[in-house]
Amino acid sequence: FARYAPYIRAINQLKREKDAVILAHNYMTPEIYHGVSDVVGDSLQLAIEATKVEAGTIVQCGVHFMAETSKILNPSKTVLIPDMKAGCSLAESITAEGIAQMRAKYPGAPVVSYVNTTAEVKAASDICCTSSNAAQIVAAMESDTVIMTPDQYLAQNVARDVPQKKVVWWEGSCIVHEQYTARDIEDFRAIHPDTTIIAHPECPPDVVDACDFSGSTSGIIKYVTDHKPAKAMLVTECSMASNISDALPEVEFTGPCNMCPYMKKITLEKILWSLHTGTEEVIVDPIVAKKARVAVERMIDLSR
Ligand code: 13P
Ligand code: SF4
Repeated sequence: FARYAPYIRAINQLKREKDAVILAHNYMTPEIYHGVSDVVGDSLQLAIEATKVEAGTIVQCGVHFMAETSKILNPSKTVLIPDMKAGCSLAESITAEGIAQMRAKYPGAPVVSYVNTTAEVKAASDICCTSSNAAQIVAAMESDTVIMTPDQYLAQNVARDVPQKKVVWWEGSCIVHEQYTARDIEDFRAIHPDTTIIAHPECPPDVVDACDFSGSTSGIIKYVTDHKPAKAMLVTECSMASNISDALPEVEFTGPCNMCPYMKKITLEKILWSLHTGTEEVIVDPIVAKKARVAVERMIDLSR
């Protein structure tokens, strides 16, 4: 950590000078997560926190859709992202035209879009969801058929948990979580039967079924913190275990993990540059933002 100290000091000083706060996702590297963030959380927590920011500038340490969500929910703030190329395979998998196609295929069915989407897609949707409230949101829809976009695996996991609904989905997937197979989990468990295995619901449903628990990134942190298993494998992005291992010395984190190349575009150097230069600013067309805000706020209201 010592080699990061000059950056951490400089960023924390510049934050004060520039009246900025850093909202950081649970997948940020430990030096960002512990060293410079003001708020950490999963997508839902970061969206809710964005509504409460009083400082003039939000530096979003996460991926682009998260920065857009902050701008949509708190439009008078300047929202910066340290690297515009921090995208997401799910957000890239669908456009507003894709939403229109789904509506044409399933007339009258509401569209529940994962927050891992662009502002245009949110604006074309009826409501958003995150991995922590997807089942709750789908269950609350009045229609028997519910369209979920763009994560086919989150949708299939929700379909199993909400059997009273016919869930139909778009065929997007997360490049980090789609890599896991049920065979990987079964093989690992055969060799390490004493390890608690926990998956993110962006994993395919047979992977989730082979695990002991599944939840959003903050749901995973809460489960490990509450249960303190002697050994845990987190079937998700690598920084998760790194970020919580110091606070949980009684838990041995083991097993393979996958890196999100988009999340890893955010570095201390780029955060410092972003604060110093006021770049790169995330702009959302106000008409699109107004419609997208309806979908995100409906989700927040239903999750309370
Ligand atoms: P969470 O909402 O669980 O933090 O998930 C966001 C994400 O991008 C996971 O891949
Ligand atoms: Fe997108 Fe997957 Fe990366 Fe999350 S982990 S930001 S869903 S690509």
